[in-house]
Amino acid sequence: MAATLATLRRPAGGRARIEWDGTSVTRKVGGMGGRLEGKVTLITGAARGQGRSHAVRLAREGADVIGLDIGRDIDTVAYPLATGAELAETASEVEALGRRMVTAEADVRDLDAVRAAVTDGVNTLGGVDIVLANAGIGMIDPEVPAPTAFRDVLDINLVGVWNTVHVAAPIMIEQGRGGSIVLTGSVMALSGRGGAGNAGADGYTAAKHALVGLTRSWANWLAPHNIRVNSVHPTGVNTPMIDNDAIQQFLASLPKDGPDMGNLLDVPVIEAEDVSNAIAWLVSDEARYVTGVALPVDAGFLVK
Ligand SMILES: NC(=O)c1ccc[n+]([C@@H]2O[C@H](COP(=O)([O-])OP(=O)(O)OC[C@H]3O[C@@H](n4cnc5c(N)ncnc54)[C@H](O)[C@@H]3O)[C@@H](O)[C@H]2O)c1
Repeated sequence: MAATLATLRRPAGGRARIEWDGTSVTRKVGGMGGRLEGKVTLITGAARGQGRSHAVRLAREGADVIGLDIGRDIDTVAYPLATGAELAETASEVEALGRRMVTAEADVRDLDAVRAAVTDGVNTLGGVDIVLANAGIGMIDPEVPAPTAFRDVLDINLVGVWNTVHVAAPIMIEQGRGGSIVLTGSVMALSGRGGAGNAGADGYTAAKHALVGLTRSWANWLAPHNIRVNSVHPTGVNTPMIDNDAIQQFLASLPKDGPDMGNLLDVPVIEAEDVSNAIAWLVSDEARYVTGVALPVDAGFLVK
């Protein structure tokens, strides 16, 4: 019957597919594997952790990927950042799924470097439809002077996100094909629990809270172009940001009668794929009227 097979696709969204094999019609709705067919996603911090998980998940749904990561350490950060080899590993995992990935080692603090990387990816892959502003840092070296610690976190976790979106959004507007942007916040975007005046942690809380405001503001800015903007707010996630010696020493130093930083559900930390699952929905047409939302993926941390 292959010679008589006709496949009709709805032009926008591709939510339903009608297949005719010469004798019967089958209507296939949704389905994993093609939800993001033909889309290109830009992901910052794509070399490992959540960024890699998002790249692989969205590639599995049909998207090609532009992936940026810094590829070197930052002196003031208390743990190693990702290497170029880790970024290349993400690309091989994406390519093993039959999708394309363009990589670049770029620091999200450097607007020109982000612009060059995104431009290269857009020229190679034919545009950009989804943006995941995910790159970020956690713990700053305790020896770093407080004002430097505070500013370094803001530079990466807030200015870096601003740079990413202000490079990608004009391209998306110009393309005129809509799109979806997701900023990665944290439960620390929506809570002050555990606050103790530590400058690096102050920077983290300030930057992540600011992302909620930008989500709302950018949702207004970009709605006329059918570009949705949302944020996700994970509780602790099992990635190198928290699975490192510096964090383990810090946690061990906390007083036993300190604030309860646990989740409501019985899980100490969630996995990167738990966040990827939420993002895969947010960027899909199933969430086509969801914009301006701050979505916790937090095992109940925020209502505890
Ligand atoms: N792991 C957690 O517990 C947790 C919880 C809530 C939110 N988050 C947020 O999730 C996001 C992803 O973090 P993760 O958990 O995957 O940690 P991770 O450290 O594994 O990944 C972060 C990635 O960002 C990259 N990066 C850091 N600074 C950069 C810069 N200046 N330019 C380009 N790339 C840079 C790193 O190299 C790394 O690959 C971050 O925004 C983080 O704040 C993490």
